[in-house]
Amino acid sequence: MAKSDPSWSEVDDYIVQHLIGDDPVQDSCLAANARAGLPAIDVSPAQGRMLELLARGVQAQQILEIGTLGGYSTIWLARALPDDGRLISLELEPAYADVARSNIERAGLADKVEIIIGEAVGSLAALQAKGLSAFDFIFVDADKENYATYLDYAVQLSRPGAMLVFDNVVREGGVVNPDSDDPKVPGTRALYSALQNHPKVSATAIQTVGSKKWDGFLLAVVQA
Ligand code: SAH
Ligand code: DHB
Ligand code: MG
Repeated sequence: MAKSDPSWSEVDDYIVQHLIGDDPVQDSCLAANARAGLPAIDVSPAQGRMLELLARGVQAQQILEIGTLGGYSTIWLARALPDDGRLISLELEPAYADVARSNIERAGLADKVEIIIGEAVGSLAALQAKGLSAFDFIFVDADKENYATYLDYAVQLSRPGAMLVFDNVVREGGVVNPDSDDPKVPGTRALYSALQNHPKVSATAIQTVGSKKWDGFLLAVVQA
């Protein structure tokens, strides 16, 4: 079966043209990321707007992101925040965080966003040690190997009713193959297994096609 079709991107262009429009701030972000040599693995514009709307839907005041890259998804999410809202984003690579900070500054969102550099597992343990437990929305988009661990931290760090979103949970269908040669698949499957009959989290996953090919999001809500 074909794993990509040009009409997927054409439809994404149509969606962006009608529902999103010009976004010079995010154009600059992606241009800066490309100049700095960052991999072009950001969410798509339509997906970014979806993240913004989901965060608005839970009236998020505190957002946590795992996996900043150049801050493209960070900017979409921070746009959902009220004036006194805050977003913490975790990133392993200091050079990526530098690019992200400059993009976030240019977007006028620097006062709302804090990037913490390091292995996310360590940063999450530090947030927990500080007693943080009121995130309304958590977007997980870092190393897939740790997705089940990120779920555990997400549940502990979030308020009842919080929404959790995990990116890249379909991987061109690879997720159904227990013997996949994609090293990221076992970690993604561990997330699904952890959510099978989870006592505190209700979840689904939605497959997507578009400019980012065939993939999907896992959406979850922590029991209120
Ligand atoms: N959310 C971004 C894309 C993130 S790409 C967007 O849509 O715009 C995944 C990011 O996770 C990369 O920047 C990578 O450096 C980071 N990452 C990978 N492993 C990590 C880890 N163990 N801890 C923190 N960040 C990690
Ligand atoms: C990869 C990571 C992502 O978060 C993504 O959206 C697409 C690809 C990757 O590591 O290949
Ligand atoms: Mg991703």
